[in-house]
Amino acid sequence: MITTTTMDKVSTIHADALVIGVWQNTELTGHAREVDRVTGGLLTRLIESKDISTDVCGITALPGLEAIAAPLLVVVGLGDPDKAPSGLSFRAAGAAAKHLANRARRKIAYALELDPAADAVCGSMTGCRGQDLYQAEKSLQPPEEIVWCSTSNDDLQKGRVLSEAIHLTRTLVNEPANRIYPETFAAACEESGQAAGFTVEVWDQQKLEQEKCGALLAVSQASERPPRLVIMRHQGGGNAAPLALVGKGVTFDSGGLSIKPSAGMLTMKRDMAGAATVLGAMQAIANLQLNVNVIGIVGLVENMISGNAYKLGDILTARSGTTIEVHNTDAEGRLVLADALSVAVTEGATRIIDLATLTGACVVALGNTVGGLMSNDEDFCAQVREASMACGEAAWPLPMFSEYDELIKSKVADIKNVGDGRAGGAITAAKLLEQFVDDVPWVHVDIAGPSFAEKPVAWMDAGASGYFVRTLVSLIDDMATA
Ligand code: BES
Ligand code: MN
Ligand code: ZN
Repeated sequence: MITTTTMDKVSTIHADALVIGVWQNTELTGHAREVDRVTGGLLTRLIESKDISTDVCGITALPGLEAIAAPLLVVVGLGDPDKAPSGLSFRAAGAAAKHLANRARRKIAYALELDPAADAVCGSMTGCRGQDLYQAEKSLQPPEEIVWCSTSNDDLQKGRVLSEAIHLTRTLVNEPANRIYPETFAAACEESGQAAGFTVEVWDQQKLEQEKCGALLAVSQASERPPRLVIMRHQGGGNAAPLALVGKGVTFDSGGLSIKPSAGMLTMKRDMAGAATVLGAMQAIANLQLNVNVIGIVGLVENMISGNAYKLGDILTARSGTTIEVHNTDAEGRLVLADALSVAVTEGATRIIDLATLTGACVVALGNTVGGLMSNDEDFCAQVREASMACGEAAWPLPMFSEYDELIKSKVADIKNVGDGRAGGAITAAKLLEQFVDDVPWVHVDIAGPSFAEKPVAWMDAGASGYFVRTLVSLIDDMATA
């Protein structure tokens, strides 16, 4: 449960813990100043002696202060106000929430005056949740109740909707591949659609065959789990042409016959993070009733090995009619997206964003925390980049020069599914996708790195991160109000 209170004396709030924030090298203001005053200048002294950290996301817990009704005061550092990193609201609140989730607590009060407040609320509900889905003793324990001081109901509602969306995305990614496979993922779409109020159309194997989705079906054909393609529609913008969000939903990527080594295969339950991000964003967009038309399309398959597996040298005919020669069965995501993108085009999308854990090469290029942007439209790409940077979910462009097109030419078919060796691997993958969006303005976001963290950060557990849910919602929110 999450509520808001207008109480201005936070020192009198009855809760198991009270969270305040302190900026670096700046006089205390607002709630922090009140706490300082009632404690006889304790905060000022502890900041002076460096026993309270004012570094970004630095946490100091002060139990048993007589002047504070809550038995525990948690001070979170906010850093230098002139150098505030984007995403600070989400991270600072998340860091306090994660710290306080070390044991069961009933009620936590947040007195953080951060902007955007909705992001802070979202962080407070996200930082306390971990990847410990199947642990008897949870390593992170969310509190029963969260109360936000002096926060508007709008911000509270928006923050809650965002955090529920991120939670859905993270849970689907953290769930193992024996629980989440194409059918159960499609069921999750239907459940979310029912609750949030967007429509959901599910294509099964037979429909995918009718629709000639030969690239997606080839990836799926060795699996015991039948494929699905889900089309979700949020109709908030009258007759306007829709924006499409397209997601890679490989619920497990063994690599196929080009099999992955065990170490690389271990976390390949995460290979549906693009699809999970699309679903999370659709849920938030619908719950916020944004005045736009958005279609979410996710291609759901398991990339497995059997006597019926697709093979090197196979020629696939994609839904668009383009033929693709298979040079590596581990370059499967682009094949799934080829058909999903062509569905977005025939659905009449006038702008397309796709999200995919597409390449290890993108992680080599940009690291584990930054997504790669590849596009056929500079302005649209800049718009996505700016939204991502403002949310603290950094993504950065890679070039899409026409010379890269040479690298995916095939001698037998129109194109092949990999480039030449490893060179430019993130870009050659995007070049294949580009073949399937016609001339629709399109941005591809390679989220192979940032969608899943090997190590925890101060504000979030390791595992699925929910990266780009907030960016997509803020981007589409801006389109709605523009
Ligand atoms: N799902 C992987 C990409 C990936 C790697 C995601 C690491 C998350 C973490 C993708 O299907 C893949 O296997 N890509 C290959 C492409 C290669 C065969 C051209 C890769 O990146 O090695
Ligand atoms: Mn693969
Ligand atoms: Zn993959």
